[in-house]
Amino acid sequence: MRILTDFNDDWLFEGRDRVRLPHNAVELPFSYFDERAYQRPFTYSKAFLADPAWENREVTLRFDGAMANTVVRLNGEIVATHADGYTPFVARLTGRLVPGTNHLSVTIDGTENPAIPPFGNVIDYLTYAGLYREVWLQVTTPTHIQNVKIETPDIVRPRAEIRVMVSKPEGRLTAVIRDKAGVEVARAEAPAALDTALTLETPGVALWSPENPALYTLDVTLTTDQGRDDLQTRFGFRKVVFSPEGFFLNGQRIKLRGLNRHQSFPYIGYALGRAAQVKDAEIIKHELRCNMVRTSHYPQSTYFLEACDELGLMVFEEIPGWQHIGDKAWQKASVENVRAMITRDWNHPSIVIWGVRINESGDNHDFYKETNAVARSLDRTRPTGGVRYITDSEFLEDVYTMNDFILGNEELGGNRPRTPLRPQQEVTGLDRPVPYMITEFGGHMYPTKSTDQEQRQAEHVIRHLDVLNAMYGDPQIAGAIGWCAFDYNTHKDFGSGDRICHHGVMDMFREPKFAAYAYASQSDPSEGPILQPVTFWARGERNIGGILPLLILTNCDEVELRYGNHPPKRVKPDHDRFPHLPHPPVIVDNRVFTKDELGLWGMKWEAGTVTGFINGKQVAQTHFAADPVATRLEVAPDATTIGAHDSLRVMVRALDQTGHKLPFFPEPVSITVTGPARRVGPGFVPLRAGSTGFWLQAHGAGEITITVSNDRLGTVVTQIISE
Ligand code: GAL
Repeated sequence: MRILTDFNDDWLFEGRDRVRLPHNAVELPFSYFDERAYQRPFTYSKAFLADPAWENREVTLRFDGAMANTVVRLNGEIVATHADGYTPFVARLTGRLVPGTNHLSVTIDGTENPAIPPFGNVIDYLTYAGLYREVWLQVTTPTHIQNVKIETPDIVRPRAEIRVMVSKPEGRLTAVIRDKAGVEVARAEAPAALDTALTLETPGVALWSPENPALYTLDVTLTTDQGRDDLQTRFGFRKVVFSPEGFFLNGQRIKLRGLNRHQSFPYIGYALGRAAQVKDAEIIKHELRCNMVRTSHYPQSTYFLEACDELGLMVFEEIPGWQHIGDKAWQKASVENVRAMITRDWNHPSIVIWGVRINESGDNHDFYKETNAVARSLDRTRPTGGVRYITDSEFLEDVYTMNDFILGNEELGGNRPRTPLRPQQEVTGLDRPVPYMITEFGGHMYPTKSTDQEQRQAEHVIRHLDVLNAMYGDPQIAGAIGWCAFDYNTHKDFGSGDRICHHGVMDMFREPKFAAYAYASQSDPSEGPILQPVTFWARGERNIGGILPLLILTNCDEVELRYGNHPPKRVKPDHDRFPHLPHPPVIVDNRVFTKDELGLWGMKWEAGTVTGFINGKQVAQTHFAADPVATRLEVAPDATTIGAHDSLRVMVRALDQTGHKLPFFPEPVSITVTGPARRVGPGFVPLRAGSTGFWLQAHGAGEITITVSNDRLGTVVTQIISE
């Protein structure tokens, strides 16, 4: 039996601090830091005892990800090197261990080494140094399973086509597929070759889809004279097709509505483990109600991808890179990244397309011919895409994936009137329609902070809606993935100078801006009603004043607005302005309230109530106070329990008497944590747009107490159980 042991405890960082992985080499402030702080080498070391039971076994260390240029030494001897910062690698210890104590040392280098993709020029994100993912000790029989691939090319007569790669062609292989309940679905056996193909007929299986992400497990066992080795993999049955008519999953056309995600968090960079990765997937699926995410611009945590599998969130995964292509050796490393990404992730049903081009790079025939060839030779079932922003670019992939930032371009003085998306053939320059998807829009064209004026945030919302509307209206567009889900820290060359790109529909703590509801409101009401007026409900926040035109983001079919004691008005979604959106917003403007009616409102500012109806039935309601006062401090952890070595997000919000956040309440809160957990980030922070957040990192079981205080709103004490 294969033994996999957690190897994350008791690392000595820089000869000084005892740390547990995942670990970030340099913790950064929230903003205005010097990003060169982590751009240097660091050392992690660890002493461990060789177990006599490892005699005559294959012993390896599996590194899930280390940034970057890693060198692993065992007892002074180099046992592994790995330059890329995003893909996994192994260090083989077999035959090199000494009895008793062994010394492991791992050096990483956070320098932006131009020999390693994505480096060589500027990049708009940070690549935080550290052993930022986990390390596992793996013990197997000397002849062992190296990898397993499962393809499900046919869903009419479903079958699993399996390839098992073993280290030596000896012994017998057994493959068993089980459903979620553990019931056996199919089984096959064969003598083990280096690369063994097995086909398992699986009639009657449930297909994987966003609505029903049915998962199966494949158990592969290799039996040799040395014993048994086994590998368990999860997968799903599904078929993806991108055609000039759009995207089809299991034969059904689906419009892909998504956002880009960077895997970074405030202060701690990339180094959050399972719970934070899963939470991000949940936020994108359930809060933003997207069906697609792009892992811009690199392979992300497998915990994130596993969560996407479970949630039914489709994924565009791509190789590391940003605009720049290096020399031949660099390109070779990039081709290896294609191989490493696909062989790591080919069994995730959530992944529907591989990005095999350096994000937004120029054409390079030989390089991209090769990345495409490698991807196609490794995986027959998924198309390739290559994200560009140049038009008329050479189309070597299966799907033309385009960052279309045309909206807002008119502000640069062009003659073109406001255009959400360009027609496909204008972009591709091809004489025929091809499979086509929008992989970015928005972002730097209209950076918007959660502290920005309501009016700007409303325009932010409209821009996202305009592009989604254009996407829904054009049958030749498979989908659109906005830039981006969450604000992120970046280099001085980008963002607002504060080292933040305020491009998210959520802030860095994943707190929604109004634009988040542009996405959420496109969901079916069966997922729950969305009712989000784009307003802070104040007379003088906007230029000149008032709250009209008022956008109400909703999937309700009718909305009522009541202002003070004036007669309420019922308003329907604006299908004229946004004809293609599944759920256009309700727009309250002078078509709804005449000038005379507004005149009657007077100068006295009144309370408001917005109510959402579906089929005449009230399903949602929100009240706004005319006189908001700071009333309550809310401390909202994502859960009341935390894994003994995991992390948990806690949001802190200042609320008024109706429960709305106070957008302009920048007062500080102090945060203390006692018990077996550490607070990530400082303990005295301002509220930004009425909220802040932090992560807890547990280091053992027990009771954790969080105390949050504000001079005006008092103290809130919250208990979390670490188990
Ligand atoms: C794109 C790029 C993204 C991000 C975005 C900002 O050009 O691919 O990484 O920088 O612009 O809008």
